[in-house]
Amino acid sequence: MCGIVGYLGEKNTKKILLDGLKELEYRGYDSAGIAVLENGNFSYYKAVGKLVNLEDKTKDYETKGFAAGIGHTRWATHGKPTELNAHPHLGESSYVVHNGIIENYANLKKELIADGVTFLSQTDTEVIVHQFEKNLKSCATAFEAFGKTISELDGAYAVLLVTKSEADTIFFAKHGSPMLVGTNKEGEKYFASSDTPLIGHCQDVNYFEDGDFGYVTANDIAIFNNDGVKKEAVFSALSQNKLSAQKDGYRFFMEKEIYEQSDVISDTLMGRLSDEKIIFDELDKSLFDGINEIKLCACGTSYHAAMSASYLFERYSKIRTSLEIASEFRYRSPIMSKDTLFVVISQSGETADTLETLKMAKKAGLKTLVICNVDNSSMVRLADACILTRAGIEKGVASTKAFATQVTVFWMLSLFVAKLRNSLDTNEIARQISLLREIPTHVKVTDEMHERIKRLSKRYLHGHGFFFIGRDVFFPLALEGALKLKEISYLHAEGYPSGEMKHGPIALADPELFTIALLPEHLHYEKSKSNVEELSARDSTICVISAIEFDKADDFVQISTCQDYMLEFFEMMIVVQLLSLEISIRLGNDVDMPRNLAKSVTVE
Ligand code: AGP
Repeated sequence: MCGIVGYLGEKNTKKILLDGLKELEYRGYDSAGIAVLENGNFSYYKAVGKLVNLEDKTKDYETKGFAAGIGHTRWATHGKPTELNAHPHLGESSYVVHNGIIENYANLKKELIADGVTFLSQTDTEVIVHQFEKNLKSCATAFEAFGKTISELDGAYAVLLVTKSEADTIFFAKHGSPMLVGTNKEGEKYFASSDTPLIGHCQDVNYFEDGDFGYVTANDIAIFNNDGVKKEAVFSALSQNKLSAQKDGYRFFMEKEIYEQSDVISDTLMGRLSDEKIIFDELDKSLFDGINEIKLCACGTSYHAAMSASYLFERYSKIRTSLEIASEFRYRSPIMSKDTLFVVISQSGETADTLETLKMAKKAGLKTLVICNVDNSSMVRLADACILTRAGIEKGVASTKAFATQVTVFWMLSLFVAKLRNSLDTNEIARQISLLREIPTHVKVTDEMHERIKRLSKRYLHGHGFFFIGRDVFFPLALEGALKLKEISYLHAEGYPSGEMKHGPIALADPELFTIALLPEHLHYEKSKSNVEELSARDSTICVISAIEFDKADDFVQISTCQDYMLEFFEMMIVVQLLSLEISIRLGNDVDMPRNLAKSVTVE
């Protein structure tokens, strides 16, 4: 996702900004830019694509003395990845960089346009700099204008702003998106949206709290809270280890990515929900004209997300939906009819098998859609339409947050199609939208839950196998739980539909067979419970995950009470991810780089 850097001092500002952005590359981005205010004049550069493009554009540019500089890597949310949409954004005499989303940008933009302001980009960010310059006309100081501007913004942000009216200052604000400032003996000031760009430059840093805003000059770091009361910076020692800084203190990237799910799902939802409908600006409604079937095609975890979607499309959108494993589909002479929308799902957008099926569908003249996490990937470039999942770069080979955002997109898409086809009434769509807004809360990992699973994991390090079982959408979640466990623990695990166990696998039941049972309160509870009881009667060791206590289980992980089965889905997803993680850590495995696996499978 987006990254921010800032520097105020006398060293090589251009280099410090570009090096800082390089440290944030791992977060993923599609364009980048810098703006430097030196001797009262601005220099700015922006480039689409990788940082080398920005380096190339700035190769003849040099900074020589004291300067205030800001830089940004952008992961497109509002508006395509173009140079005009890249940050920093310009007003008449100020530049701004921003992470997060300004929720009330449309209203602010309308008023500014009415005042005669011309906007150059499609971003929400640009309103900040124009609003600041509007306020500058009526305020006594630039700081007052900045404070007023911040108080007028709704949403999540980390903001840096530089203006000619106070050329030796960087203004900052933080609410909901991370940002820190560091200083050193030379009095330089460094900003970034995470630790790594500051390593090697500063020993001590101040992490801003939500509501903090203020400014830095050569001699001062002035921080104010939400109420405008001045506060002291609280400095803490900065770890000097870059890899661990990228992991933000987590033991593995996978663990960090499990914890990030609440934030990335918020990003996935951002700008796509109104009270009564789903908004996918990226989709032309004609995509669904003449469509009588949706065919979903993917591999691995993405296939499991697709399987969850197949239940939602038939239940909510009332459209025939079929599901394909890409490596099978490509060699089985499938019948493809033109009233089918062919949907591929891929975190990377590069998986060879899935890419090939997309090519086959295109060749057969089908309309195509990709649900993907990586903009400009091969599948995004090839498909007729694309919805980005906005999970940010996923480093752990075992996919977690990509899956969570894929299911979130599919839930939204099923309601979007339901609206088009009139298959759900308006009240029900509105109710589901309010549930969607709840997901980020339900996927927050609590210390209590993590500790419980950590303790539990020591009982599941042996045995002759695991069965993850569930019904309906909890079946693909069971498959995903089993895949996570086998990928990183190397223990044998299978996902099974709960009701199917009695048709064979129950023969394996004994105390050394571990059953992880997904028992949602709001979907087929009694039926699923009977299936677990059948296993319990045959002495399988059972761990039940449910909101309702279950006395026949050996172990029980209680999720919170939810209003709907889909929220239970997301709560249970966290439990199965953490369980795999903790079992694998206890077994001493490298969770981020499991043996024999690659993050992106670009060969057959
Ligand atoms: C997930 O944990 C796996 N590493 C794997 O199954 C993955 O989901 C699969 O290879 C598909 O990748 P994609 O989503 O990038 O297409």
